[in-house]
Formats: sequence, structure tokens, C-alpha cells
Amino acid sequence: MSTFDDVHRRSLEHPDEFWADAAADIDWHKSWDQVLDDSDAPFYRWFSGGQLNTCYNALDRHVIAGRGEQAALIYDSPVTDSKRTLTYQELLDETALFAGALAANGISKGDRVIIYMPMVPETIVAILACARIGAVHSVVFGGFAANELATRIDDAKPKAIVSASCGIEPARVVAYKPLLDQAILLASHSPETCIILQRRQLEAELVAGRDVDWADAIAVVSPHDCVVVEATDPLYILYTSGTTGEPKGIVRDNGGHAVALHWTMKNIYDIEPGQVYWAASDVGWIVGHSYIVYAPLLHGNTTIVFEGKPVGTPDAGAFWRVVAEHKVACMFTAPTAIRAIKQQDPDGLLIKDYDLSSLQSFFLAGERCDPDTLHWIEEKLGVPVIDHWWQTETGWAIASNCLGIEQLTVKAGSAARAAPGWDVHILDNDGNDLPAGKVGSIACRLPLPPGTLPGFWRADERYRKAYLTRYPGFYETGDAGYIDEDGYVFVMSRTDDIINVAGHRLSTGAIEEVLSAHADVAECACFGVADSLKGQLPIGLLVLKAGAAKAPDDVVAEVVQMVRERIGPVAVFKKAVVVARLPKTRSGKILRGTMRRIADNEEYRMPATIEDPQVLDEVRESMQSIGYAQQS
Ligand code: COA
Ligand code: AMP
Repeated sequence: MSTFDDVHRRSLEHPDEFWADAAADIDWHKSWDQVLDDSDAPFYRWFSGGQLNTCYNALDRHVIAGRGEQAALIYDSPVTDSKRTLTYQELLDETALFAGALAANGISKGDRVIIYMPMVPETIVAILACARIGAVHSVVFGGFAANELATRIDDAKPKAIVSASCGIEPARVVAYKPLLDQAILLASHSPETCIILQRRQLEAELVAGRDVDWADAIAVVSPHDCVVVEATDPLYILYTSGTTGEPKGIVRDNGGHAVALHWTMKNIYDIEPGQVYWAASDVGWIVGHSYIVYAPLLHGNTTIVFEGKPVGTPDAGAFWRVVAEHKVACMFTAPTAIRAIKQQDPDGLLIKDYDLSSLQSFFLAGERCDPDTLHWIEEKLGVPVIDHWWQTETGWAIASNCLGIEQLTVKAGSAARAAPGWDVHILDNDGNDLPAGKVGSIACRLPLPPGTLPGFWRADERYRKAYLTRYPGFYETGDAGYIDEDGYVFVMSRTDDIINVAGHRLSTGAIEEVLSAHADVAECACFGVADSLKGQLPIGLLVLKAGAAKAPDDVVAEVVQMVRERIGPVAVFKKAVVVARLPKTRSGKILRGTMRRIADNEEYRMPATIEDPQVLDEVRESMQSIGYAQQS
């Protein structure tokens, strides 16, 4: 029996003991009454009765313990040509002051604050300041459009929004403020205050009586101390794509989150306090929440806030420059970033320009990692490359090679074994376990470990219905795959309409809602097709209303623009085609899966229930006109 097997077994057989041990690494204001509280199963709570403050654990305690002069955060921004290092003491001072500004604007424990910001240190300050006063933050990714922001405003009902005048993409400055103003107009709920960070690249006009300049907000206040919260109180809400246009507000608690994330730093990433850890993601995504902000700081590491891209800022050597310059020990990104680098620097020549001797390991997640990409980066870096699988809902890895416990053999295409705390099963439609190697729905036996979602924001029944109902006693991941004879988990695809575009999670259902809103569109279908760079891209098929006012090409151009405006550029919805009919089953279900296979030139079986097989040929021809389904 290996060390990993032992640890994994103990985590499932004695979860109370296992996680109580891990909780000893967190500073508590009051110890918990119960490690695992199952009194309201299937909704579980961790560390009930315990009290703490997450910001205290991420900043204050390190300063008290003598880490005040260590770099907590390194901001490296090739798009603004600037860099800045904040020590733990400096990050604490800025956070406490901004917490004072939030309090002075009437924000207190339990209030929600939306943070719509680019990758700048102030974003991390705003996040931690919320945690400091017990306010619940909800970060919205900058690549989302006003409409998506409005939906989140209406669900979270924030008392304040913290934003910036602009974000900076390599090719353009993104004015955030007009998007924010429009979102507030669209939403039914209005925040009382907006605190706006003015960036010199583009200053924003402030709305009198509502908007406050960040600099003014902190000028007149005193630092705020940590407010004690319950372990089970919400720390944040992070919205993620559901199967409709209505996003799911994933809630994270304070206690279980701090315990689990701290535990992962040594056990999964094999990192010691003081080392530099870099997740090249965006704070708007779960990877950013967990591994740019919370886990590295809870653990006393140095984190990097990188405002740039893997390519084009200025070249495909950007990642390697950052690793060398800041002596990164462990790095984490999405496979799509590696594919982008590989495309521009296929022989990895730029890697050779940098001294990467600090790098111990390289982690990938966010989408399935194709073996080619894995092997390429393994060969070029010469350090363990670890694909690990997780979701916004889970907050940390469900399956991973846990380097700090025991380094397992890497199998390309697999995220390795279920991590400690996770009891992963492959189930058939009736909920029976499938044998090794057979593909089925991936489900995790309840309770999920600490740090995972206790539910949706004020919508627990929606959570129960979406995740806990199909397989009683299990959390349904929405992913399909198999487990091999050695217990390795292979995540192959989604069982719903979620797609992964450049590591960004999107719902094709939400895109369809936008397409249907066009006055000339009678019916539509959207699905993800394979893309060698971004993994998947959404395409749309449109059936126009009889007597449609506009020409097909104009409708296509307009829906492309509508998706950009309503969901955001990050949807990368660029291709649609008008068809006469959509293929359907006799009961009227649109055959999206079959069309996707045809688009990707994969083999497919003619569905027995198809209403009219001829429609598939028509659709194939239409898809050919936009560059897909080239083989008939
Ligand atoms: N704010 C505003 N707009 C944004 C944005 C942000 N934070 N992030 C992306 N966008 C825009 C881009 O500018 C682009 O706009 P365009 O249509 O005008 O060109 C669009 O959204 C699509 O962005 P993206 O899919 O990211 O494409 P890209 O060409 O800019 O970059 C990669 C491609 C692969 C380099 C990039 O996607 C990447 O680094 N991915 C890593 C994924 C990642 O970090 N995932 C998080 C989970 S680990
Ligand atoms: P997100 O919530 O944005 O992190 O997206 C989660 C989804 O991304 C998962 O449900 C998977 O479909 C996919 N995903 C994330 N990591 C991996 C991985 N390592 N391998 C395969 N799919 C992954």
C-alpha cells in the first residue's frame, strides 16, 4: 500500500480526524463544535461553531510571525510596462485601509460587494478587505459584458461595487466604467456606492453622489481591524455558467475554505511557505480566487499578479521571463496557454533564454489537456507536469497527482487519482458503478470535503436539483469519463451544454438565448466545435422566421455582435450560419451532439429517433460553408 493510498483512505474513513488535523494550521478565534456537520444533509457544513477571519489568516498572522518583509504579492504587468512588489506588511496596510474605506461607505458583515476589476494589486486588496470586514465579495471577470454583470448584480444585490476605469488587453484599452454604468442601468437592484480605481491609461467620469474615487475613499479613513465571522459564514460568491442564461452563484464558506486551501499548498503542490507560487489565470475565475489570492497567502507564499498574456506581451517567452525573474517554484495555467505558446514557439527556443532553475513543478487545469500539449511542455521544461481536474464548484482539485504526498506516475490524458477527501465514482444512468475503463457520469460521494460549495447563493433548492438529485448521495459533476484499473481518472467531456473556450467556462444554452432574441431568428442551436488553440469554440445554426426582414448574412453579423455585447468578447462567438431546418428527434429534441460530431468530422451513428435524416445532409453543407464538417 502506497503513502498516497494510506492518506486517501484515512481521509475517507476518518474525515473528522483528517480535516481537524489540517485545521490546526489555521488560526481560529474560537474552535469548532463539530468538524463535519451533517444535521442538514445533503447540505453539509464544515467546522460548525468555529470562528475565524480569513484575511487575518492570509495577512496579519504572517506579519505577526515575522513574515512582514517577505514579498506577498508581485505585480508584473507587461501591458502597462510596470512592476510592483508588496510585502506582507504593505499588503496588510493597504487592505486594512481599504477595509476602512468600505466600512466608511456603510459596508458591514454579510453585505455583498461586487468587484469588477482587471489584474491589478488593488483587486486583491479589495477582495481581502471584504474578507477582513466579513463582507461577501463577488468578483466578475472583466471579459464579461454589461448584461452578464447586471445578472450578477440582481442576484447578489451588492451594497457596493468596486471597479476600475479600465482594463488593458494587448490590442485595446477596455473602458470598464461605461460597462459598469450600463449594467447598473440594466439591473433592477442598484448599489449605493461604486468605488472606482482610476488608471492613468483611461480615466473614467464619476457619477456624482454614487461614485467615489478609490484614492479619495482611502484618503480620509483609518485602517479597519478583522471582524470575526463564523466558519460557515459566506466568504464569497462566484458566478459560473449554468445550463441557461441564469448563472449559478457558487458560495464558499470561511472555515472549510481556509483549511482546505492551506492544506493543498503542501500536499498537492509541494510548496513550502516563503516560496513563489504563480497561477497564470485571472482573479475573475476560480483558479484566480483559489490560487492567485487565497491559497498562496494563507500559506505564506509569494503570489504573482500577471497582467499580460502567454503570447503577444511581448512574445511567447513571457511566462518564462516571469518564472526566471521572480524565481517561481510552482506554476499553474490552462493547457490553452501552452498551446498558444507552442503555436508561436514550436521548438521552445524562447524557453532557453531564461534560467528556469527555480521551477519545481508545472500544473495544468481548466480543460482537458491533450497528450501532445502535455508531452511538449514536459519535454521543454524537464519538471513534473501535472494535469489536475477541478471546477468552480469544488474550489480545489478533485483529482490530482499530489506531489507533497507521493509523486505518482503521470498518465497523459488523466488528471491522476481522486485527491484526499474525494470519493469519485463512474455511474451509469441508473446510478450503478461502472467497471474500470467504462465511460459514464462522474459523481462524488457526499459529503464533499471542506472548501467545496455548501450551496448556491440563496438558492439551495436549485443546487439540490442541479447536482444532488440524479444520483442520491452523490454530487453529480456534469463531467463524463472513466477510471482505469489503477484508479486514474480520465475526464473526457461534459454531460451538459457547458463548453470550455480557452479555459473559460461558457454555456451554449446562454448563447442560444441571445441568438433567439434576434427578431428574425425562429429557432437556433449552438454547440462547441474543436479548436486547436482554444480547445472549443461555439458556433451557431439559425433558422430564420418566414418573411425575415434581414438578409441571412446580416442576421449572422448581428447575432455575432449581440453575443459580444450581451455575454462578452470572452465567448469568442464568431461563426454562425443560416439553415432551412434543424435536425430533430421525432419528439422535437434538437440533435446538437450529432451536429457537433459532424462539424468535427467525427464518426457518428444516425440517431434511431431522427425525424428526417435528410436534414443532417443539409446542415453538413451549411457547416462546410463556415469551415467545418469538411469530410462527408
Ligand atoms: N477583459 C476584457 N476583455 C477580455 C478579457 C478581460 N479580462 N480577457 C479576454 N478578453 C477578450 C480578449 O481581448 C478577446 O477580445 P477580442 O475578441 O477583441 O480579441 C476575447 O476576450 C477573447 O479572449 P481569449 O479567448 O482569452 O483570447 P485571446 O486571443 O485574447 O487569448 C489565450 C488567447 C489562449 C492567450 C488566452 O485565452 C489565455 O491566456 N488563456 C488562458 C486561460 C486561463 O487563464 N483560464 C483560466 C482558467 S485556468
Ligand atoms: P471551471 O468551473 O471554469 O473551472 O470549469 C470546470 C470544468 O472544466 C470541469 O467540469 C471540466 O469539464 C473542465 N476541466 C477542468 N479541469 C479539467 C481537467 N484537468 N481535465 C479535463 N477537464 C477539466
